[in-house]
Amino acid sequence: MKIKGSLSFPGDKSISHRAVLLSSITDGVCKIKNLSTGKDVQSTLSCLNACGLKSVVNEKGLTIHPGNLVNPKSSLDCGNSGTTARLLTGLLAGQKIDATLDGDDSLSQRPMNRIITPLSLMGVDFSSEKNGYLPFSYKSESLKGITYAPPIASAQVKSAVLLAGLGADGKTTVIENSQTRNHTEIMLRHLGAGISTKDQSITIDPLSHKLQSFNMTIPGDPSTAAFFATSAALIPNSDLVLKNVLANPTRSGFFDALDKMAGGIECIEKWWENEEEVGNLRIFHQPLIPIKISGDSIPGIIDELPILAVLATQADGTTEVRDAEELRVKESDRIYAVCSNLKRMGANIEELDDGFIITGPTQLIGTEIETFNDHRIAMAFTIAGLISDGRISFDNESCMAISCPEFTTMFKQVIQ
Ligand code: S3P
Repeated sequence: MKIKGSLSFPGDKSISHRAVLLSSITDGVCKIKNLSTGKDVQSTLSCLNACGLKSVVNEKGLTIHPGNLVNPKSSLDCGNSGTTARLLTGLLAGQKIDATLDGDDSLSQRPMNRIITPLSLMGVDFSSEKNGYLPFSYKSESLKGITYAPPIASAQVKSAVLLAGLGADGKTTVIENSQTRNHTEIMLRHLGAGISTKDQSITIDPLSHKLQSFNMTIPGDPSTAAFFATSAALIPNSDLVLKNVLANPTRSGFFDALDKMAGGIECIEKWWENEEEVGNLRIFHQPLIPIKISGDSIPGIIDELPILAVLATQADGTTEVRDAEELRVKESDRIYAVCSNLKRMGANIEELDDGFIITGPTQLIGTEIETFNDHRIAMAFTIAGLISDGRISFDNESCMAISCPEFTTMFKQVIQ
């Protein structure tokens, strides 16, 4: 078996969420092509539809019609999506829309204090029976701008505060200790908001007018592309071209790591679209060396650490990932999910509080995989299954649809 050919990817999930959210406060019709097809972005769209957003989907993409948001009549279901819950709260609170937000079992166990704390400082009034978790309700009558340094590196927290800042009295500043994905800042600037960035601090002015309406094609999702890249990097005689992939440096940590591991990776070309970098990459098989990842490098690879762990089982030596405790509060506890499943597959892996240590290369063995209903765990172990001795099976593969419903079909196109 080998991986050959070329693939284009559905739109980046983070940019898709932001495009839908920001379209709701623009001055005209917005057209979005190559929107993420995952359920998470659908959750953002349905929540906004419940707040009066008028949207039409057809074969050409998503069209959003101008209008004003209104208080939703029932609670907003954010499904499995932390980005929906956190960014939507910030955006709606900034627009003085009062709401109740809810989510599925996984999302209801994920920490919301990280946004409740700064948004309360701005004047949002939260109430919840489960202190710090969904479901919660809030009211937002008047907001004041704040200066806030999040205690954790989180683009969701940064974005929630900046989006609320659009409706505050006075400027709002977020100071980041480590740089996280900057799509909110890029898109706000692109659509005419008053936003400035200096070193690690980002300042937003209250909006005095609606954002400019836009036509946008979302670049391919690098987090999805990373799974396909890993298969081509690991399987001898593979050669795969990944087309139109988002190449924003705050998101390219996985591809940087593959390069440092001596993996076969070549940038064919790069260009700009709507102030985001996009590129075509070629990935091929080469022997891998181990790598150490920690500190400020973690945010740029946070969603790709499960698949990096699979890659590391095939590197010749010891790979270490530290300072990644945030992985424990993703869609599942991804440190435990990766370590327990890779151990059962025969990998030499040690679980740390904030990461893992893997010594390779090891021949992985097919076994039953526990996905914890986490899309990235299901996709990472699909790749592990391609190089395992014996078949793997899953307790639930359908969770892949959270970010990429086409995952299995796309693989069929490139496996030979
Ligand atoms: C995201 C930010 C990250 C990432 C998530 C998407 C975003 O979460 O893990 O998948 O779109 O802003 P944190 O902000 O919690 O690190």
